[in-house]
Amino acid sequence: MKATQEKLKLQLQEALGAAFGADYAESDPILVPASNPKFGDYQANVALSLAKQLGQQPRAIAQKIVDKLDLVGICKPPEIAGPGFINLKLETDYLVAQLKAIQTDPRLGVPPAKNPKRVIVDYPSPNIAKEMHVGHLRSAIIGDCLSRIVEFMGHEVLRVSHVGDWGTPFGMLIAHLEETYPEALNTTETLNLGDLSSFYREAKKRFDADEDFRKAAHQAVVKLQAGDEKTLLAWKIVCQLSSRAYQVIYDLLGLAPFIERGESFYNTLLPEVLEELDKQGLLVENQGAKCVFLEGFTNREGEPLPLIVQKSDGGYNYAATDLAAIRYRVQVEKVQRVIYPVGAEQKNHFAQIFQVGRKAGWITDDTEFVHTPFGLILGEDGQKLKTRSGEAVRLQDLFDGAIAHARTDLEHRLKEDEREETEEFIAHVALLVGISAVKYADLSQNRTSNYIFSYEKMLALKGNTAPYMLYAYVRTQGISREGNIDYDKLRADAPIILQEEVELTLAKHLLQLDEVLSEVEKDLLPNRLCEYLYQLSQKFNQFFENCPVLKSEEPVRTSRLILCDVTARTLKLGLSLLGIKVLERM
Ligand code: ARG
Repeated sequence: MKATQEKLKLQLQEALGAAFGADYAESDPILVPASNPKFGDYQANVALSLAKQLGQQPRAIAQKIVDKLDLVGICKPPEIAGPGFINLKLETDYLVAQLKAIQTDPRLGVPPAKNPKRVIVDYPSPNIAKEMHVGHLRSAIIGDCLSRIVEFMGHEVLRVSHVGDWGTPFGMLIAHLEETYPEALNTTETLNLGDLSSFYREAKKRFDADEDFRKAAHQAVVKLQAGDEKTLLAWKIVCQLSSRAYQVIYDLLGLAPFIERGESFYNTLLPEVLEELDKQGLLVENQGAKCVFLEGFTNREGEPLPLIVQKSDGGYNYAATDLAAIRYRVQVEKVQRVIYPVGAEQKNHFAQIFQVGRKAGWITDDTEFVHTPFGLILGEDGQKLKTRSGEAVRLQDLFDGAIAHARTDLEHRLKEDEREETEEFIAHVALLVGISAVKYADLSQNRTSNYIFSYEKMLALKGNTAPYMLYAYVRTQGISREGNIDYDKLRADAPIILQEEVELTLAKHLLQLDEVLSEVEKDLLPNRLCEYLYQLSQKFNQFFENCPVLKSEEPVRTSRLILCDVTARTLKLGLSLLGIKVLERM
């Protein structure tokens, strides 16, 4: 109901002008959704903020505004409350008309952007020469969700995985490949090296224990950077192997397709970046390294901190590559917004490269570069997530655990309800519920905080969890099955009757989707959408418990079915924007 809110604001401004003169017609009416339904739907506290300026009592000011306020057809007569709040309550007929409009709208009342932007979302961006860890899992889940939301809001979204596919860690893997699988370099067939993670581990073990191997690894890096053909081939093979292994995880998560444009992509552009920084007088030589000095960053001694762009040995680093990426994204991709869902520990890195990007003139006032940081995933002991033996948790194991838990829960329910289902059904539901639960648990937290990974909590049937939301959707579908109703065929001209308080509450909530999505588009906090869907499920359940649907007489019956349908579609759309698919039955 953003449009409604805008309309109310305009009316308030007009009333202000009429009551106190044209100068006041621009005042901000500070209109907020009411914190409590007993105050109505919206509350304007403009009277309080004008009291000083006008030298009048806020309640008197509020009265003068209300006297001039024309909200016929939208709100019930406004009420003045407390020190001078103006409480506004929407007319039921007005709500019905709004709801009618979204009943036939596939976008459920969410208008697409008037000025679409080109946006890059940079995720999940794992490092190829290392194992993908839970930090990348968060980047994958959050990045996928944000890109879906921004895209739905009408923008053109490019999903780019800035994979770490270059640099010293590769030496070890290339050397290991060359020694243990020399045939890999002589065949065009893709090699099966088995489990990639054991390949890493073997290489790492040798690297830690064997001096000669370390030398070979170092040699491989030098050769790689010099563009040696055979080494490049080995590098490519390692990249492909790792991409294939990651793809298994991406598929399981059901991520929207993204392109992989790793650090190596920017190699040839790095000298230009340096040249440009130099031309602008930003580059300073410091102990042999080329740096840009930063404002607002100091070392422990309080001295200004340089951002190293080229190391003294001539090598480029993570920051240099990211600067090249900024420049490329602005100049070649012509984007207006870039979103980086990356762990909070890289806060300084992003603040620094954005600062340099601005100094260099790549980032201007009409391009927005945002780091959307997230916290850690913790184990139930509140420590960093580890296996019992203290190793880093493999993502695959994390998912398998969630799926197994979901399966146990489901089998338990089936037994209780004496329901028979096929193995296919059970496997499908367990997979979808398990993965959705992991995603939802992540997205429903304010992303900036750490959270505790708990199967019990994320799979609970009650609470702000995926199963609760999925279950609300299943309920809407159960009604249509039971009544043999095709929601798509409900009459578009059937009246909507909002007579019970729970119906009114549900209807109002359904009309707020546009507000929530436009907030998330701005502040990039998916937990707001989760909270909205959670409340929607609760309000729907209250409606369902208090208002018979199929057993009601017409026209109430169809009206209630419309509420069920719009709820179902809102849940389905909202969950899909979180990257979660609904189930018809579970
Ligand atoms: N590969 C990096 C890491 O795992 C994340 C890259 C994020 N994206 C970027 N443009 N820096 O830490």
